[in-house]
Amino acid sequence: MFKVTPWEVSGKIDYQKLIEEFGVSEITDELLQKLPDHFMLRRRIFYAHRDLDKIIDAREKFYLYTGRGPSGKIHIGHLLPWVFNLFLQKEWGTELYFQLTDDEKFLFNEDLSLEDTKRLAYDNALDIIALGFDPEKTTIFLDTDNMNVLYPIAIKVAKRVTFSTAKAVFGFDSSTNIGSIFYTSIQSAPAFLLSEIEKKSVRCLIPCAIDQDPHFRVTRDVAEPLGYPKPASIYCKLLPSLTGNEKMSSSSPESSIFTTDDEEQVRKKIMNAFTGGAATVKEQRLHGGNPEVCAVYSYYYFFFEPDDSKVRGIHDRCRSGSLLCGECKAMLAEKVNSFLTEHRKKREKARDHIDDFVKKL
Ligand code: TRP
Repeated sequence: MFKVTPWEVSGKIDYQKLIEEFGVSEITDELLQKLPDHFMLRRRIFYAHRDLDKIIDAREKFYLYTGRGPSGKIHIGHLLPWVFNLFLQKEWGTELYFQLTDDEKFLFNEDLSLEDTKRLAYDNALDIIALGFDPEKTTIFLDTDNMNVLYPIAIKVAKRVTFSTAKAVFGFDSSTNIGSIFYTSIQSAPAFLLSEIEKKSVRCLIPCAIDQDPHFRVTRDVAEPLGYPKPASIYCKLLPSLTGNEKMSSSSPESSIFTTDDEEQVRKKIMNAFTGGAATVKEQRLHGGNPEVCAVYSYYYFFFEPDDSKVRGIHDRCRSGSLLCGECKAMLAEKVNSFLTEHRKKREKARDHIDDFVKKL
């Protein structure tokens, strides 16, 4: 049993099954040929899409749209789709609109005040900026600071989405607060933003994790009746938790590595991580480990080892029993720490550049 919704991810996710459940398309080898080369595509970490082929074949201007719900600190799993957005922006020179949904996290979270989510939005923006987006081509925006632009689009969407659709898509019931029910129309709005501003049809591509697809199903259903093009999307898998099979969650700190963790915390978390290792060293030397179920291996595979031959090497040496978990973990801790040391420096520098990125629409 697994569950993937925009607000809850649990269990061992069957990504193939999600393709059917959500009705998205797989990224075929043929489509891959039309895309710039990136390890997340080659490895099918980004593995599903809607109309990606159409937006590429149309050869018209489009923009990128993605987002973040500011409910807490940023971990490596969050960075994964953002790094891919950055890659696409560099590769194609595309504009990026990055939505920070301080409203969403306030509405859906008992414990967070609007002041909290707004503060977190600015904090999270530092991590986004630190990755190296082009300030000329990137607009990061907070929902509550931009309602003058978002609201007119959102109510057009909302007028076409019934309560029964919202219930069916998101699992709401009569006890759900009405702000949460309305929220999906706010997440739809940026998909139509440039069409609205430029008063002509401008497409967008949404690169993000697959759990956000339910929102964009709704977005796509209302698009054409409203005179907007349907947004295209490209979806990635979720980085597995360090402790086992569920998604990294901010609620259990051992299960993910936050960008603000210090070197010792990182080392500790990785040393305690769930692996595919055997019960004893002797057994592992004899029969090898199982990288397929290993959280440590997934960190290499999803993020920290973009070189295919090197990740293969780790895989094969694990399988054969020549690479033991201790060594493999220590190697990963070093990689993560050297990445985070740099990231934290850039994150501090980003404080001086907030205004270059966090803009009014
Ligand atoms: N709902 C998303 C979250 O909880 C935030 C978000 C808003 C988003 N717009 C988006 C995510 C577009 C991906 C793409 O994190």
